[in-house]
Amino acid sequence: MRAVDIIEKKKQGRELVPEEIAFLVEGYVQGEIPDYQVAAWLMAVCLRGMGSVETAALTQSLVHSGEVLDLSSIPGVKVDKHSTGGVGDKTTLVLAPLLASAGLTVVKMSGRSLGFTGGTIDKLEAIPGIRTRMSWEEVVAQARRVGVVVVGQSENLVPADKKLYALRDATATVDSVPLIAASVMSKKIAAGAGAMVLDVKVGDGAFMRTEAEAQELAKVMVHLGREAGRQVAVLLTSMDEPLGTAVGNALEVAEAVETLQGRGPDDLRALCLELGATLLGLTGRAVSLDEGRGVLAGLLDSGAAWDKYREWVGAQGGDPDPAALPAAPVRQPFPAPATGYVREIRSRLVGQAAGLLGAGRGRLDEVPDPAAGIVLAVKRGDRVEEGQPLGYLHTRRLKTLPEATEMVRCAFAIGPTAPEPQALVRGRVGADASGEGFGAG
Ligand code: URA
Repeated sequence: MRAVDIIEKKKQGRELVPEEIAFLVEGYVQGEIPDYQVAAWLMAVCLRGMGSVETAALTQSLVHSGEVLDLSSIPGVKVDKHSTGGVGDKTTLVLAPLLASAGLTVVKMSGRSLGFTGGTIDKLEAIPGIRTRMSWEEVVAQARRVGVVVVGQSENLVPADKKLYALRDATATVDSVPLIAASVMSKKIAAGAGAMVLDVKVGDGAFMRTEAEAQELAKVMVHLGREAGRQVAVLLTSMDEPLGTAVGNALEVAEAVETLQGRGPDDLRALCLELGATLLGLTGRAVSLDEGRGVLAGLLDSGAAWDKYREWVGAQGGDPDPAALPAAPVRQPFPAPATGYVREIRSRLVGQAAGLLGAGRGRLDEVPDPAAGIVLAVKRGDRVEEGQPLGYLHTRRLKTLPEATEMVRCAFAIGPTAPEPQALVRGRVGADASGEGFGAG
C-alpha cells in the first residue's frame, strides 16, 4: 500500500476501505507517513467527504491509536458530555457537579481553548490550586468518592487525534463532518463512559454554521456511538450569541458558580437543565424530559449542586470560593452606540475580542490570562439606551484594548425593532424527536 495511491483514490471521490484508512492513521502516528501526504488526504476528505463505513473505520483507527479507559471498577452509571465548542460555554462546570448531585458519576476528559472557542481545562485552571492532571488511580478514587472528576485529556488517549487535529488546524481542514465526528467520538469512546450527551453548537460562533450541517454531524455521531455500544443523544443548540454573559476563564467560573447557586443567566441554566435531563432520560433516571428538568432544577435551587461543586473542586485541590478567583486590573465598559434593541451579538467576534484581551490561546504554546475576558451587560432582544454599557472588557493588556473594543463594537447590531426570539435548543437527535419523552431515536 502507498499513501499516494490512497490520496489519489480519495481525490477521485472513491470510497476507501478500512485497511487503507488504518494504514494512513498508523503510518502517520508512527512518523512513517509525512505531514504533507496526510494533509493532502485530509483536504481530499474535506472536498469529497467520507461514507459511513469510512467514518467508522477512521473512528476505530483513532480509538486504537492509544489506550481505551475501562471505567468498570467505578460503581454506578458513568456519563460524559461534550460540546463541539462555542463562546461562553461553561456548561461542563455546572453540569458535572449537577449530574453528580443527581447520583450519576461523571468522569470527563476535557480540552483547552483554541482560536475563538473556549476550553474547559483553561476555565478550571483559573481556580487557584486546582489540579487538572491526575494519575488514573487518582481519577478512579475520586470518581468513587465524589462522583465527579474533570481532568485534561491524558497523553495516551487517542494520540492520533491530537496529531491530526493540529495538522487540520494548520491546513484549513477542521470543518468536515466526518473528520469532526470521528475526532469527537474517538475521544468519547476511548474515555469509557456508557452514556453521553453531545452538544452540537450551531451558528455564528460554531464550527457548524447551518442547522443542516449540524443535523448531519449529530446523526453521524449518534451512529458511531451506537456502533461502539454507547448510548448517545445530541442536542443542537444555538451559538448565535454567547452563552450566558461571561466570556473568559475566571469570569466563566464565577458565572457557573452563580448558576450552581440557583441564579445565573437564563440561557445557561436552561441549557444545563436540557443537557442534564437528556442524560437522566438516557440512563433511565427520569421518564420524561420534564421530570428530568424538575429534578435538576431542584438540585440547583436547594444548594445540593453547589455543595457538590465545592466537594469536587476541593478534591482536586482547588479553592471553590468565587472570591478567590483572579481579577483583571482593568475593567472598561463599552457603550451602546445608539438607542434601540440588541438584534445581534456575534459570538465569533466576542470570542476573538476576549482572545485579544488575553483569555484565549492564539497558539498552542500561549498561556491564557485567567482573569481576562468580557462580561456582557445585555442579551439579544434587550432594549438599550445610547451610551449605556453593553458590557465590560477585563484585561491587563492595555495595548490590545482598543482593537478588542472595536471588535466587540462590531459584534453588536442595534436596531429599531426587537428581533424574533430564537430557540436555544434547535433540534435533538438520538432521543425522542419531540423532546418530551425518551424512546428509540
Ligand atoms: N472538536 C473536536 O474534538 N474535534 C473536532 O474535529 C472539532 C471539534
